Amino acid sequence: MDILEKLSLAGLVPIIKVDDANDAVPLCRALVEGGLPVAEITFRTAAAPEAIRLVKENLPECVLAAGTVLTVEQARQAVESGAGCILSPGFNPKVVSYCVENGIPVIPGCSCPSDIEAALEFGLKLVKIFPAESLGGVKFLKALSGPYVNMGFAPTGGLNESNMLDYLALPKVKCVGGSWMVPSDAVKNKDWAKITEQTKRAVKLMLGLKLIHVGINNASPEDALKNAALMSKLTGLPVKDGNSAAFVGDEFEFCKVKKPGTLGHIAIGTNNIVRAKWHLEYMGFEFDEPGYNAEGKMTSVYLKDEIAGFAVHLLQK
Ligand code: 3PG
Repeated sequence: MDILEKLSLAGLVPIIKVDDANDAVPLCRALVEGGLPVAEITFRTAAAPEAIRLVKENLPECVLAAGTVLTVEQARQAVESGAGCILSPGFNPKVVSYCVENGIPVIPGCSCPSDIEAALEFGLKLVKIFPAESLGGVKFLKALSGPYVNMGFAPTGGLNESNMLDYLALPKVKCVGGSWMVPSDAVKNKDWAKITEQTKRAVKLMLGLKLIHVGINNASPEDALKNAALMSKLTGLPVKDGNSAAFVGDEFEFCKVKKPGTLGHIAIGTNNIVRAKWHLEYMGFEFDEPGYNAEGKMTSVYLKDEIAGFAVHLLQK
């Protein structure tokens, strides 16, 4: 899997600035503990190359990018230190051409259609949109999505917990980046626990895992209907009878035929099933083969193991 794909599965890219290279490892460990093994270490300080080298050495599982790369020399240094990809705030043809010629993944900053067309000339598939909020935010990205059908966007600049979901909801947005998970006062005070907490919150918000329905196995179709009627009486929710199950509201599925799970199943919705699967696998959960729709998009995937007699599956919201 290439690094751009990994960034897209991770969905969030914390943007980091360290004055002391020795802070980089505990900082990135805090991100990893928050469920996000990803970091963009920026060349805004002279500590960047050494910080990248230390993280590469001590946290090899971290998907490591170098940010604010403004010169070819910095790009070279970043890669030598162990960065797997190069990001920059603007579109610098010299940096992009150096990276492309040397097979280094590069995500240049673009702030207008001309920049994106320059990136297309180099065969790039993902560009950073910076500074996204100042440029017009989601509205600006929607306008760019029309003409550039095959270009993915990684917006940064002014993103935070209150607007990141609006960006991630756009199909062309492959990941979002920002410094809000790594507040500078937390870095200054070496408050790694705060960074872990902010990161956990961001991942949770991004995935949006939420109970959708509980499926309950029944001994026979007649039992399923009888139990559904009882639940409907209890909750006032309507019965919707189908071939394999009778739903009561959207919340209760009384299975007429045997479905996965000893007692039944639990459906958990998510904003992005592919990304949720990746994050949960990173946490140690194992999954069965996913289900796909006619367009080849993953729609549902079961955990390998039951929880308390219930099979658990993710569902694309
Ligand atoms: C970047 O390098 O992309 C930005 O500085 C990140 O912007 P933010 O600090 O507003 O998240």
